[in-house]
Amino acid sequence: MSDTAFIKYKDQSYELPVVEGNENEKAIDISKLRGESGLITIDPGFKNTGSTRSAITFLDGEKGILRYRGYSIEDLAEKSSFIEVSYLLIYGELPTADQLKIYKDEITKHTLVHEDIKKILEGFPSNAHPMGVLSSLVTSLTAFYPKSLDPNRSSEAVDKSIIRILAKMPTFAAWAFKNEAGHPVNYPDNKLDYCSNFLKMMFSLPTEDYEVDPVVANALDKLLILHADHEQNCSTSTVRIVGSSQASMYVSISAGINALWGPLHGGANQAVIEMLEAIRKDGGDTKKWMAKAKDKNDPFRLMGFGHRVYKNFDPRAKIIKKAADDVLEKLGVNDPILDIAKGLEEEALRDQYFVERKLYPNVDFYSGIIYRALGIPVDMFTVMFAIGRLPGWIAQWKEMRENNEPIGRPRQVYTGHTQRPYPEINKR
Ligand code: SDX
Repeated sequence: MSDTAFIKYKDQSYELPVVEGNENEKAIDISKLRGESGLITIDPGFKNTGSTRSAITFLDGEKGILRYRGYSIEDLAEKSSFIEVSYLLIYGELPTADQLKIYKDEITKHTLVHEDIKKILEGFPSNAHPMGVLSSLVTSLTAFYPKSLDPNRSSEAVDKSIIRILAKMPTFAAWAFKNEAGHPVNYPDNKLDYCSNFLKMMFSLPTEDYEVDPVVANALDKLLILHADHEQNCSTSTVRIVGSSQASMYVSISAGINALWGPLHGGANQAVIEMLEAIRKDGGDTKKWMAKAKDKNDPFRLMGFGHRVYKNFDPRAKIIKKAADDVLEKLGVNDPILDIAKGLEEEALRDQYFVERKLYPNVDFYSGIIYRALGIPVDMFTVMFAIGRLPGWIAQWKEMRENNEPIGRPRQVYTGHTQRPYPEINKR
């Protein structure tokens, strides 16, 4: 029996279908509401509005559940690899051993970028933020692969575009960092795995060899898995709406990179470290900063805390917090801001303001501490988030295209002037 909801407005009642997802979520399908009633709905920030049906990632904010294609984030972080998870997200199933080998080999073959990328890079001053460089280099792929601009290409052609951007993203990211550091770029080393190759491109110098520490490479692989997708977050919704105009995958992903840059979204991992450093320099008085975070007249927010969906705990934060302890111990790093972070978390979990608003550490609260221990500079943290989120953006763009979803074009409630005559005095 189909489920329905009723909207009663003035003397009319409108019957609307209720759709149900595979995890018992329910949504009122309002696609016919305006035609039947003249009414639209409004929901700034889409806090209560579903934009699509998706089979990729499931979150339960109350229970702290995160699953990619049905597999729990805990299992994937412990047992899988970032490359395998990227295949799972994009193609819907875990690859067989043969499929994984072919996929990995294809990615390895495409890590090199066109030499002309260096000319684009040289156009950026060394103070250019790596996120701006990254989104520009991703957009430049449309110039080197103009056939990728056709949104209606064969699945084989789309698969080739997917391999190319997965393969080249670490190269772009490392080159963006080298541009800022004023160092010569390093070419990919195809003898290395995905994360080791990235670390070597990041940290190798002409004056000294860089030996990849497997502890660092493994920690990075786990962090990328934890960031790989997160259903309809701000940057993914950006990728979908840009792609809904039939703009190409590369430019849709470039738009997603720019949306992720914001400090309320992926930029929070950089803002968390800057906040913890400020607290440390200020003598470590966490109570003073907690008071600032609660003061409505103070724009300061406790970065890395709170989440639109998770109202209990962010399962990724729990995994990253434990990984931070493990990695810092294995690397013999003693970072004072880790203790400040733990102190803030303990205080917030006891504080009525945070408990009432269900504000808990999110994925960004501890990730920066690991990146810092791995030697990654703070303004590369959101670039790390982008490398991790890339498979999710690809999967969501691909699903939107395959489902032939309509162009995104929300309505509005107009609050400006009603019609008024052009004034005589201004006649030219
Ligand atoms: C990510 O969507 C995703 O899935 C994102 C992400 C992903 O994987 O893609 O998980 C990654 O972006 C994580 C979030 C990283 N951002 C931050 O850590 C920035 C700090 N957090 C916030 O600004 C905030 O919590 C958001 C943006 C994350 C969520 O904001 P919402 O859902 O719009 O909630 P809100 O701003 O309406 O806040 C509700 C209340 C408000 O107080 P009242 O007006 O009710 O009195 O909680 C307060 C807010 O002032 N509040 C905070 C706070 N976060 C919310 N107060 C102090 N410090 C904070 N961090």
